[in-house]
Parts: sequence; C-alpha cells; structure tokens
Amino acid sequence: MALPRPLLRLLPAPWHAFCHAWDRLFAFAKGHVDRRVAEVAARGPLAEGDTCVTDLLARERVPISSIYGNVTELLLAGVDTVASTLAWSLYELARNPRAQAALHRELAAAAATGGVTGGDGDSGVTCRLYPVIPANARVVPDRDIRVGDYLVPRQTLITLCHYTTSRDSRFFPAPDTFLPERWLRHRDTGDTAGDTPGDTPGDIPGDTPGPGHPFASLPFGLGPRSCVGRRLAELQLHMALAQILLRFEVRPEPGGGRVRPMTRTLLAPGAPISLRFLER
Ligand code: HEM
Repeated sequence: MALPRPLLRLLPAPWHAFCHAWDRLFAFAKGHVDRRVAEVAARGPLAEGDTCVTDLLARERVPISSIYGNVTELLLAGVDTVASTLAWSLYELARNPRAQAALHRELAAAAATGGVTGGDGDSGVTCRLYPVIPANARVVPDRDIRVGDYLVPRQTLITLCHYTTSRDSRFFPAPDTFLPERWLRHRDTGDTAGDTPGDTPGDIPGDTPGPGHPFASLPFGLGPRSCVGRRLAELQLHMALAQILLRFEVRPEPGGGRVRPMTRTLLAPGAPISLRFLER
C-alpha cells in the first residue's frame, strides 16, 4: 500500500481495507497456532517425528509472535498459489484430452506398481502458462550491474515480468499452447520451464540466450530468496493431480468458454473455471 500520505488522508478506505485484511489473516493463523500449541502442551514433550511446522518452531523456542508471523506468511504464500496452479492444470488437461489420456496412462501404470508421484513436469508445464506470481523484483543494493546492453545503477528496483518471457515465442515455440511433450528435458525442445538452471547439461546460467533459455520461465523465482515452498507445492500438485486423474476424467463444462488469466496481484482466472468430473 504505497500511497503518498496526503492521498491517504483523502482516500482512507483502501488503507483501512488493507489493514482489516491483514488483521483477519493474522487472526486466522493465530487461532490455528494457539490451538496447536495447546494440543502439544496437553500431549507433553514433543516426540521424534512430530513434524507439524508449529511443533518444530515451538521446539526451536521461536518466540510466539514470530510463529504467528511465519505461519501467516506460509498460509498466505502457500494456499492460493497451489490452489490456483491446480485449477489451471485441470483446466488445461480438460481441454487437452490427448495429454490427459497420456498422463492417466502413466499414472495408472505407476499405480499398478505402487509408485504414483504424478507427472514430473505438471507444475512446470502449468506454471509456464499461468505463473501465479506473474512478476518478480530485485534491488541490487551495493553495486552497479550490467545486463546485456544496460547498466543498472545500484539501489534500482528491477521488475521482471516472467509471465511475458515465459510466453515468448523465441524461447517457447507456439508459446500459448499447452504442450507437455516439450517439457521433456531436451534443450532443443524449447522448454526448460521450471528446471533449475544448471541442472541440465547445456542449462548453464548466463548461457547464450536461445530456445529454451534457462531463465525464460522462473515461476518459483531464483536464488537464495526463491520460493521456499517449491518442493512442497510440487509434491501437493503432483499428488492432487494423480489422485484426481486416477479417479476421474476431467472435461470442460459444456458451453464453458476459454478462461483467460488476469492479474489481481496474483495471476487469477478472469472467469470461473467450470469442469465436469466423470468417474472412471
Ligand atoms: C505453485 C505454487 C507456488 C508458486 C508458483 C510460488 C512462487 C513463488 C515466487 C515466485 C516467490 C518469490 C521468489 C523470488 O523472489 O525469487 C515465492 C516466495 C515464497 N514462497 Fe512460494 N510459490 C508457491 C507455493 C508456495 C508454498 C506452498 C509455500 C509454503 C508452504 C510458499 C512459500 C513461499 C515463501 C515463504 C516465499 C518467500 C521466500 C523468501 O522471501 O525468502 N510458496 N514463491
């Protein structure tokens, strides 16, 4: 809420709404933390294997105010992001029956051998088209840096709209098309979305830009401040998709049109996503 002070006096409503929203978020998290802490206290000392995040924070003797803050942050960062990505994944799979059938075959085969984890690339495939956090920003505080032909003075805020770069046809041919095949790890398929740059031969950070440039799609950010919940998010997405697709065939609601993404700070569906779940 970066409003100049005079404007704040003239227009107090958005600021009050903003504070009210934060109060509600904190109250929600506080309610859960307090309940959990009371349960843990009633149970006695923590045992090995108590893995609830609140238990762990309490075990480390993190002050309760920090636990409230951290749990609020994790809820804020971890709920809508995964829910939205899951909704877009189902939407695209419903519209692409061939891709859905191929994924279902893979899942069914894995289930038969007891090893369902979900397709390896689902989150990356979907996040390239619908990165729930569509832009990211950085300030380099202590030195000027050169990016290509640009000199960026220190203390300059740089915003990268990776929604745009991840739909750039120079890096992803047919950029608006949901094409899980290109997810397969080959530099020449033109899609390394979601790979950690550097973890695939040829994906060397700073490598010459070209098809499948390793920085073209960064839905989870990059570096020490990248998404701390990425692995959890991927696990949730893989498991949820696997469970849903093993039980249901997902189809678009008849008459349901194309849903376009829109930004509301986060990237959200511009209209309700309506799907039919047919039991297999
Ligand atoms: C599809 C799901 C998700 C996406 C696309 C996503 C994306 C992102 C992005 C782009 C950032 C900023 C990274 C940067 O500045 O380089 C971020 C930060 C963060 N994310 Fe996620 N996220 C997801 C799920 C989650 C989940 C499930 C959690 C926690 C349970 C989580 C917790 C966080 C936290 C705490 C930060 C701040 C990290 C820091 O500043 O050090 N995220 N996320």
